[in-house]
Amino acid sequence: MTYDTKPFRLVKNERIADGIFDWTVENPELCALARPGQFVNIKVPSRMLRRPISICDANKNSLRLVFQVKGEGTRLMSQMKPGEEVEILAPLGHGFDIKPGKRYCFVGGGIGVPPLLFSAKQTENPLIITGFRNKELVILQDDFKAHSGEVILTTDDGSAGVHGFVTDVLREKLGEIDEVCACGPIPMLRAVAEVCRGKVKCQVSLEERMGCGIGACLVCACKTKPKDGEEFMSQVCRHGPVYDAEEVFYNG
Ligand SMILES: Cc1cc2nc3c(=O)[nH]c(=O)nc-3n(C[C@H](O)[C@H](O)[C@H](O)COP(=O)(O)OP(=O)(O)OC[C@H]3O[C@@H](n4cnc5c(N)ncnc54)[C@H](O)[C@@H]3O)c2cc1C
Ligand code: FES
Repeated sequence: MTYDTKPFRLVKNERIADGIFDWTVENPELCALARPGQFVNIKVPSRMLRRPISICDANKNSLRLVFQVKGEGTRLMSQMKPGEEVEILAPLGHGFDIKPGKRYCFVGGGIGVPPLLFSAKQTENPLIITGFRNKELVILQDDFKAHSGEVILTTDDGSAGVHGFVTDVLREKLGEIDEVCACGPIPMLRAVAEVCRGKVKCQVSLEERMGCGIGACLVCACKTKPKDGEEFMSQVCRHGPVYDAEEVFYNG
């Protein structure tokens, strides 16, 4: 895994939904290394610990990062102005294992949706299923539609798209896909893993609390159960964030 910490230039910071911001940051050295499902660790001014954010999209010179304001760090990030410099450690972690010739279904919930865009763009004819609590929180639908003919939106309250959960749609579509890649809250990942079990392979991306982001502090340690081995304390930043759905204990 090749990563480094470098100054990136913030070139765009736009509010795209209630409390959700869309950044574009540029650095010609590190952006080209990004792979689908990887993340970056961002130095926020005046804060000691960096903030991990998934790579939503990437090209040779820039990364797109979409984040929700949760606490002080992301609030400060939301107030930064284009032209400012940001220190970013990138690209980090092991992302989705995407193989040619398969039809993938990308299943995202809430702020777990962004990393699926870059991943979906690497595949042929993907099926996209994204779910949000309500229409105010819906993001990235046009971006997915630019790369897929089948983009299905669900909301918990029925205020946009299908009334219900992503798993209601996934269950109906299992016969049309080869593999699932999912990112979202733990209860959603647990439900997606249950729907896929014994039918299609499923990879899940975990958003565990993190410190260093590079395997040095153990803040992100979580118990996993590799298929052929004993239970293992995995570091999500280093061994993940993407795991086979059957390796994960869904606590939370
Ligand atoms: C691999 C990975 C990818 C992520 N991708 C995204 C993304 O694309 N968009 C997005 O909005 N959020 C994402 N998150 C969650 C995001 O990192 C947290 O919401 C953010 O760190 C909260 O920081 P804060 O200072 O605003 O909140 P506070 O709660 O004040 O944070 C305090 C400390 O806890 C850590 N922390 C708090 N919540 C989390 C969390 N859920 N995950 C990791 N560390 C946390 C912070 O880094 C900080 O060190 C991701 C997390 C991980 C681990
Ligand atoms: S965040 Fe430090 S070991 Fe993973």
